Amino acid sequence: MSIELRSGTAADAAACGTICYEAFKSVNSAHNFPPDFASAEEGRELMAMLLSHPGHHSVVAELDGRIVGSDFMDERAPIYGIGPITVDPAMQNRGTGGQLMRHMLDRAASRQAAGVRLLQTGFHNRSLCFYSLVGFRTREPISILQGAPLNQKIAGHDVRPATPVDLMALIGAATDFGRPGFLVPTRNHEVSTWCLKGGLRLVYQMTLMTVGLYNEPTDAGCRRCCTERTISYLPHHRRPERFSPDALAHKNGETDR
Ligand SMILES: CC(C)(COP(=O)(O)OP(=O)(O)OC[C@H]1O[C@@H](n2cnc3c(N)ncnc32)[C@H](O)[C@@H]1OP(=O)(O)O)[C@@H](O)C(=O)NCCC(=O)NCCS
Repeated sequence: MSIELRSGTAADAAACGTICYEAFKSVNSAHNFPPDFASAEEGRELMAMLLSHPGHHSVVAELDGRIVGSDFMDERAPIYGIGPITVDPAMQNRGTGGQLMRHMLDRAASRQAAGVRLLQTGFHNRSLCFYSLVGFRTREPISILQGAPLNQKIAGHDVRPATPVDLMALIGAATDFGRPGFLVPTRNHEVSTWCLKGGLRLVYQMTLMTVGLYNEPTDAGCRRCCTERTISYLPHHRRPERFSPDALAHKNGETDR
């Protein structure tokens, strides 16, 4: 079996989109999770957008002139972001994904990217092993949450261009959550439990994995600063009861984390 790699073009959107839809659908349904894309058309729309985006590098894998997989890399920041990578379900576990990923990592290295990261679907053991074997390190569990919009406002945090302390206010103000849901660092106990107490449901876990530069979150995803600063902006008498007793205890030095 000889797989050829080449750069993706706008004309590849239909083939890549169909494979993307089928690949995620097969793994999600095998684990009883809802599909990430409602239809193959949604997959094709995403591929069309990525294939024509100047900030994303794309690569497709072909076998005998037929596309059997694709991979994308967002190169707009010093840390590159990989995904989605998908291989035709009938062609998986034969090395195609490895070729696509090695191409991306070689390219990131040649362009001196400070690091590369991706989010791995937590219930998919195969992709966790696959990414680990090509060099990614597991850094952080991330939750995908979904549910009815919270329609909540947090005093002192009117919605405007985001700063880290606005995390909960932004979630609270959302009028809709797109599929499959939105991402919350699972170790951010205050924010993730605040969401759960608001009635949101955990869809599945993802795993933040990286190559190269990685700094532990100290701001946007930070369990401590984010919550402390959010609390400090809340007038005492307006603090919602369910907001975060843990965080308040922490602020008062009552817990160790
Ligand atoms: C993830 C995906 C892109 C991998 O592509 P692939 O062509 O199947 O991958 P490869 O065959 O190149 O490599 C798979 C590797 O994982 C290893 N592996 C798979 N399951 C494993 C397990 N349970 N334990 C240990 N290793 C495992 C294989 O041995 C192989 O390693 P090797 O090349 O060193 O032998 C493909 O399976 C896919 O499209 N999945 C559906 C979509 C998806 O999940 N995308 C990723 C989103 S997070």
